[in-house]
Formats: sequence, structure tokens, C-alpha cells
Amino acid sequence: MTARGRFITLEGIDGAGKSSHVEFLRDRLRERCANIVVTREPGGTPFGEGLRAAVLHHPASALAEALAMFAARSAHIDAVIGPALASGAWVLCDRFSDSTYAYQCGGRGLEPAAFEALERLVHPALQPDATLLFDLDPALAAQRQAARGAAADKFERERADFFRRVREAYLERARRDPRRIHVIDAGGELGAVRERLASALRGALA
Ligand SMILES: Nc1ncnc2c1ncn2[C@@H]1O[C@H](COP(=O)(O)OP(=O)(O)OP(=O)(O)O)[C@@H](O)[C@H]1O
Ligand SMILES: [Mg+2]
Repeated sequence: MTARGRFITLEGIDGAGKSSHVEFLRDRLRERCANIVVTREPGGTPFGEGLRAAVLHHPASALAEALAMFAARSAHIDAVIGPALASGAWVLCDRFSDSTYAYQCGGRGLEPAAFEALERLVHPALQPDATLLFDLDPALAAQRQAARGAAADKFERERADFFRRVREAYLERARRDPRRIHVIDAGGELGAVRERLASALRGALA
């Protein structure tokens, strides 16, 4: 029987630098497994990408957002993440359920009990083996995004105090689950962040 692959997720506030390191991480993971599946949330399937467009661009309650995120996630697990892990591939996913906790509970005030109920319903037996949390001051993240110059989505237009709450929710979750969630100082040059990331990844996969 093929051993189940490993599931690695990237987390952090908008503009913290997650996506900038995906290729680097894919290369590091290839040293451990020939088959790496790179994917992202919300999205990862045509159904999920449709929900992503709805959630990122139209106002809705925290509960409606969380339901949409978990609907997209359910399809993503069924079609991509589950089969890949079962085949022995390793999955690198840009955002997963920790994002829903941080944004909808931390940022928007959704009851954690609602989040936990959805998590139990959608992926009762699946958690990332390792999560790399890019931690950055929201003011610096906003500067990086402004420099990027792309049109901002609904979340990226949120105010600084929203992202301070999201960041705090992520850090609180990391304090509760330090074996899974590895906090990376995402400040400073790309190369410096990369070195911290490589070292955190070695620790996470040891
Ligand atoms: N260490 C760094 N120093 C300066 N700029 C950076 C650094 N890391 C990333 N950037 C730049 O900051 C911007 C945001 O980075 P990136 O898109 O990787 O963030 P993200 O966490 O994936 O954001 P989102 O959650 O919105 O997808 C990009 O323009 C990227 O080139
Ligand atoms: Mg990104």
C-alpha cells in the first residue's frame, strides 16, 4: 500500500508573502517526494474558483463567507487534496481552514463554535501535517501590496484593525497548536525570509 502523502499549508494575512515562496517550497519538497501537488484556497477546482470570485468580490455575512469557503474546501478535498494524498503525493496548499478561522472568526467575529462545526463536517479526519504561518505587521503587508499595484479584492481593502485581528487570531491558533503551526517572521528581504522558511520547513518535516 502506498503511504499517504504529506499535507503542507501556507497561511498569513494578505500581502505577507506566501505566494512568493511557493516555487521555492515546491523545489524543497521535491527533495523529499517526486510528486508535489501545488494548489490554493479558496479555489483549487472550477466550483471553488467560482465561489472564490463570489467571496472575494461581493459583501456577505461572516457566516455566509465561512459556508462558501467550506463548500469550496469540500469540493477541493474531494477532487484534489484527498486523491493526491491517497496516491502518496505531497500537497502544498496556499491557505486552508486556518484562513477561515483567522478571517471569519478573528476578522469578522464569527463564533469559533460555528467554525469548528464546519470543520468537523467537512474534514473531520484531515488536518495539515505542517502549516507555515507568515507573520507580518499589517502596515508592512499593505505597503507590499500597494507596491504590487494589482486591483485590491474585498479583503485587501479592509482597514488595518481588521488585519490586526486576523493576525492575532492566527498567532493565537499557533500558540494552541505549536507542533503543527510554525510561525515565520516574514519581515525583511525575500532572501532572509526564504532562509527562515527553509529552516522552519526542515523542523516541520523532521
Ligand atoms: N520579503 C519581501 N520583501 C518585499 N516584498 C515582498 C517580500 N515578499 C513578498 N513581497 C512582495 O509583496 C507582495 C505580496 O506578496 P505575496 O503575493 O507573496 O503575498 P501573499 O501572502 O501571497 O498575499 P495574498 O494573501 O494577498 O495572496 C508581492 O508583490 C511580493 O512580490
Ligand atoms: Mg497569495
